[in-house]
Amino acid sequence: MASPFRILAISGSLRRASFNRGLVRAARESTPEGVAIETAEVAALPHYDADVEEAGDPDAVTELKERIRAADALLIATPEYNSSLPGALKNAIDWASRPYGASVLAGKPAAVMGASAGGGGTARAQPTLKRVLTAAGCCVLMEPEVLVGGAHSRFDTDGNLEDDAVRDEIRALIAALVEFARQPSD
Ligand SMILES: Cc1cc2nc3c(=O)[nH]c(=O)nc-3n(C[C@H](O)[C@H](O)[C@H](O)COP(=O)(O)O)c2cc1C
Repeated sequence: MASPFRILAISGSLRRASFNRGLVRAARESTPEGVAIETAEVAALPHYDADVEEAGDPDAVTELKERIRAADALLIATPEYNSSLPGALKNAIDWASRPYGASVLAGKPAAVMGASAGGGGTARAQPTLKRVLTAAGCCVLMEPEVLVGGAHSRFDTDGNLEDDAVRDEIRALIAALVEFARQPSD
């Protein structure tokens, strides 16, 4: 049997009942045949510090880098904090982008989705996240967009997605990511 297409999904929110964790769970529940979606946590990563890096990557950083290296693509669910991506997620991308010239993110296909309390559904955070991922060397899928606004009415209090239209959007995003990643690069 052919090995599955491996997607590593990351929630940029650390809280237990996070809407964005809920988006990642919904993605796992919508995994198409031939695709495997695993998750990685960013909470245990220390703040990026070049002195710490020089002394050797902390275990949590090594593990994250290995998991990114092993993945065929990344799927990131981001909240919107003050119109941008959260610091914990940016920190994870900064670690993964190092060392310069040998980043595990180089050429890695990546897709983004996000949920927020506000009406924009992370419409301000996602372009920034996409720009950061691009700067770090990822090949970023620009569309379709999954922007889940007014999240309190679309998730239950444990952060489980209760909106079938959003589930369909997530399915379409995963399908597009797999197709995008399989396209030959010039
Ligand atoms: C520091 C901070 C800044 C926030 N800024 C925004 C914002 O700019 N736009 C928005 O829609 N929601 C904003 N929110 C509200 C988040 O959308 C809300 O906390 C949401 O639940 C975060 O996603 P999560 O459920 O995955 O943790 C902010 C929340 C925090 C903690």
